Amino acid sequence: MDTTPAELPTLSITRHPLIQHKLTLLRDRTTPTKIFKELVEEIAMLMAYEATSDLPLERANVDTPLESASGHRVAGKKLTLVPILRAGLGMVEGVLRLVPSARVGHIGLYRDHDTLEPVDYYFKVPGDVEERHFFVLDPMLATGGSAAAAVSSLKRAGASRIRFLCIVAAPEGVRRLAAAHPDVRVFCAALDRELNAHGYILPGLGDAGDRLFGTR
Ligand code: PRP
Ligand code: URA
Repeated sequence: MDTTPAELPTLSITRHPLIQHKLTLLRDRTTPTKIFKELVEEIAMLMAYEATSDLPLERANVDTPLESASGHRVAGKKLTLVPILRAGLGMVEGVLRLVPSARVGHIGLYRDHDTLEPVDYYFKVPGDVEERHFFVLDPMLATGGSAAAAVSSLKRAGASRIRFLCIVAAPEGVRRLAAAHPDVRVFCAALDRELNAHGYILPGLGDAGDRLFGTR
């Protein structure tokens, strides 16, 4: 089931039982890197099913082995996934399993440890930006600084149809992204309680990049 808290109108929380089961395993501090990576992919795939449910279709005819039939295909240019480096990379394969023809851009950002503000270091997306639907991917929406900066970069490049897919969101991050970009819908698997003094989500799942790539 998909729900939207009244006070956070840009947010959809996907409460599918399989996602919630996998999310609990993901939060577990004893989950090893290999399983953590697999779970992030699986959750991303299930969330992409929800986040693509209203993509526009166009009519398309097809010849079956027996006769012609009318059908549909997703309209427009190929969907474009834009992971925020590093942790967003963990979601790409999962979404690609569902949308194998999607294009993939990259945005490099990291949070400054002291200010918690994003520092950008890389930006590359496919051409025809104005005509594409973009899904920005990052497992964590904490202060919202990285998400807002990534969306601003995409808009500066000409994008207007942008959605943000994360796994765990903090209320602070959802509000900051909505204030900067009220047109961007956010899909998450959980809306957690709050941020701690270091900008980590509580209860959260720790440092997603470190847990995905085995760094610490
Ligand atoms: C993490 C996470 C987000 C960001 C969220 O990345 O993957 O990009 O923090 O925090 P925010 O909402 O407060 O901006 P991090 O900066 O740790 O970089 P990394 O993925 O390279 O480890
Ligand atoms: N980034 C993470 O990886 N985890 C958090 O809890 C906050 C930001």
